[in-house]
Amino acid sequence: MEFKNLLIETADGVATLTINSPRTLNALNSEVLGELECALFELNLNDAVKAVILTGAGEKAFVAGADIKEMATMTAHEGHRFGLKGQRVMMLIEKMTKPVIAAVNGYALGGGLELALACDFIYASTRAKVGFPEVTLGIMPGFGGTQNLARLIGPNRANEMIFTGKMIDAEKALAWGIVNEVFAPDELLAKAREAAAAIAGVGTLGVAYAKDAIANGLNMGKEDGFRYEASLFGVLFATDDQKEGMAAFVEKRKAVFTEK
Ligand code: CAA
Repeated sequence: MEFKNLLIETADGVATLTINSPRTLNALNSEVLGELECALFELNLNDAVKAVILTGAGEKAFVAGADIKEMATMTAHEGHRFGLKGQRVMMLIEKMTKPVIAAVNGYALGGGLELALACDFIYASTRAKVGFPEVTLGIMPGFGGTQNLARLIGPNRANEMIFTGKMIDAEKALAWGIVNEVFAPDELLAKAREAAAAIAGVGTLGVAYAKDAIANGLNMGKEDGFRYEASLFGVLFATDDQKEGMAAFVEKRKAVFTEK
């Protein structure tokens, strides 16, 4: 499918999805959100894709937020519907069986930070600035940010970021555990591709089940989470990939996984 606002490049099992509207700093309007939903759905079904990198076009921004010009005239009902549309994209990323890495190359604000937080982990460039400026617009984060940020870094730091609306730089985002690593701007994509290639090279069934256990386990009590993990762990012993992975270890050769 052709997209007006997205670029998708796939090589060696890794798809790079770039939000490509740099004139508005890749702001998320309804059209971009709709395209993201379709593109991510297709990438999840595409057997040639083992991992996805999500980034923004241009040197300035990953995504500078939901589109303020579109939201400015919304009614309460339209605002609610727009929030649900954004949340659907975030939930889709979490439900995808393939890992999604956010490569945050500049501003990740509001809905942009929410998009990055929905990904499985975040790499950032030294140019990244992240924050939730919604309160400066008279609103609050609406694409899952209150939930995901507080779960990731704890309520106190999340409260500070969301209540003040202030941005933090890449160094502080790293110290606070929002991003996993920080790279020079011209290294960021290569480093994200390195991580994605490492994921694409291992048993993708194991990766998919681990993603499921982590994401769903976080919404359960610990005992239920352990029980859920044990059932997924058990199911993997019914796969060819488990037989192949362990045989390859014993025979001191590289495993050839078939995702069966
Ligand atoms: N929505 C719509 N347009 C946006 C935008 C956004 N979130 N962010 C930037 N733009 C547009 C600007 O309006 C400008 O367009 P024009 O040239 O037509 O005026 C263009 O992108 C370039 O932006 P600036 O000239 O402002 O660039 P700058 O370098 O001076 O500033 C910035 C960069 C600090 C990121 C600034 O653009 C900014 O503050 N943007 C808004 C950030 C924000 O508040 N995001 C949260 C949105 S609310 C939200 O996301 C709700 C939610 O949780 C779902």
